[in-house]
Amino acid sequence: MPRISFVNGNYLPHEQATVPIEDRGLQFSDAVYEIISFFGGKPLDLIPHLERLKKSLEGLSIKYDVEKGYFLDLLEQMIARNKISDGIIYIQITRGVAPRDHAFPKGEITPTIIATVRPLDMEAIRNRLTNGVKIITVAENRWGRPDIKSTSLLGNVLAKEAAAREGAYEAVYFDHHGIVTEGASSNVWMVNNEGILVTRKTDGKILPGITRLAVVKTQKGAVKGIEERPFSRDALKTAREIFLTSTTSFVMPAVNLDGKSVGDGKPGPVTRVLQKAYQKYIKEQTGQTVF
Ligand code: PDD
Repeated sequence: MPRISFVNGNYLPHEQATVPIEDRGLQFSDAVYEIISFFGGKPLDLIPHLERLKKSLEGLSIKYDVEKGYFLDLLEQMIARNKISDGIIYIQITRGVAPRDHAFPKGEITPTIIATVRPLDMEAIRNRLTNGVKIITVAENRWGRPDIKSTSLLGNVLAKEAAAREGAYEAVYFDHHGIVTEGASSNVWMVNNEGILVTRKTDGKILPGITRLAVVKTQKGAVKGIEERPFSRDALKTAREIFLTSTTSFVMPAVNLDGKSVGDGKPGPVTRVLQKAYQKYIKEQTGQTVF
């Protein structure tokens, strides 16, 4: 089964799916992206993902109309052509191709749109969801607009590499005041000593995660209380429970932070309840039991 990818309206064998070297996505990371999961062939939270895509495009003044029908068709085609029913679609929209010059090109240029799909390794994910993962903290090293889902990910790449070198799953950022922002590719949550669920509010210093939003909704009645506010790295170190949320991490327990056990070193009870609530949320939309 050859892998099929998408470039500007064309479905091509993956090796032939290419863009010109002066694409501004390549030259400047002048591009935005989304990663959307699908289960049983049905996308999860397509509308919120498309709304965020629209905001990211607006944030970079890339003129591109996000139409639901277009993306539904793209998704259906990619699923059918690649014969994958559970996985993720990666969509990237760049400002387009133009002679290399930092400022926006004069006149109209057509944005480049590319997409790839791949299956998720659900066995590995289930294993991590059951046993929890190790995380480390690192100093913020990103540009000032992490709320825009841009492909400018060099800071995130370096943070993830630092985590990988320590055998950790994720790097959690803290700013120069010692306040946690988010993970290099996830949002961060903790259960504090009063049993309150705490996660940073979407204040421009984090990506407004779609999984985060779903968990904010599905936690209702499942936890003692929730506070959306900044919290420090020191507070994280004394948390009873920590977990991460993202499209590919779901509700991922972190059981070791900077080499020390979180709580008793096992995924905590609140995390378990929220995993179940999120599991139900996915089933309601896609009909699938995913983990
Ligand atoms: N990452 N914060 C950052 C910096 C992210 O890159 C992501 C997603 C999230 C969580 O967002 P969501 O719940 O919408 O996936 C938060 C994707 C999965 C990635 O780049 O791999």
